[in-house]
Amino acid sequence: MAKIIGGLGTSHIPAIGGAIHKGLQQDPYWKPFFDGFPPIHEWLKAQKPDVMVIFYNDHGLNFFLDKMPTFAVGAAPQYVNSDEGWGIPSLEALKGEVDLSWQIINHLVDKEFDITTCQELLVDHACSLPLKLFFPEGNYPVTVVPVCINTVQFPLPKAHRVYTLGRAVGEAVAAWDSSKKVAFIASGGLSHQLEGTRAGFINKDFDLKFMESLLTNPEWATQFSIHELVEKTGTQGIELLTWLAMRAALTVGEGAGVRKVHSNYHIPISNTATGLLALEKVS
Ligand code: DHB
Ligand code: FE
Repeated sequence: MAKIIGGLGTSHIPAIGGAIHKGLQQDPYWKPFFDGFPPIHEWLKAQKPDVMVIFYNDHGLNFFLDKMPTFAVGAAPQYVNSDEGWGIPSLEALKGEVDLSWQIINHLVDKEFDITTCQELLVDHACSLPLKLFFPEGNYPVTVVPVCINTVQFPLPKAHRVYTLGRAVGEAVAAWDSSKKVAFIASGGLSHQLEGTRAGFINKDFDLKFMESLLTNPEWATQFSIHELVEKTGTQGIELLTWLAMRAALTVGEGAGVRKVHSNYHIPISNTATGLLALEKVS
């Protein structure tokens, strides 16, 4: 059976792609953000995952407001990153792990999740940037399965539902007939709001409580309604749902516990409070 090794959470912001392109990692504005990553690079080099299941949200590149699945799973051999504007070069395409995609899709449907199956899927910065941050040398040594969660167009799935989805994805991976090592990625958050009268809203207190809860009490955030979470984290901060799915996926398989490998938190990058977390599964 496949082995689940752990989970990684990171914020995603298009401007990060611009900073990488311009080599600004040591620039005073960017350094506190990029300095979070070397311990994670070391951990990945030691753990050598083969596959990464990425919980993320699409921002309109593949799904637009006219057709918005609540949950969508990629089942393609390749996922291409396309131009999202801002003059930032597109990142390299991600290689799919089609066999695991269908394992996850079949299990989710069996567990009564009504998902959209995508045999073609463009991926935006939310899916492509984490890979570039975790493997800055490029030529990524992993295949991927993208799992898209609607955090954009109301009505959004509630936190408890997302947690249940994450656990079901974890079950599917744990039951996958493969000798491969699998890690989960959560892409999004933490608190930020890009528009309206609360544009620029950040809630450090809640962000830190949320990150801590993923270690000590993973279901903590499921007590809140979507509207409460938007109030606490901002209209885009609700992307933290992806972190909840990632953590839930680690509650199944051999050993239910996790240990923190590394974390970082920095305000702001663009409009966002950036969070970074690596959790290793322990028995
Ligand atoms: C920003 C943050 C996001 O999550 C995103 O998808 C786009 C932009 C920002 O802070 O600029
Ligand atoms: Fe986003």
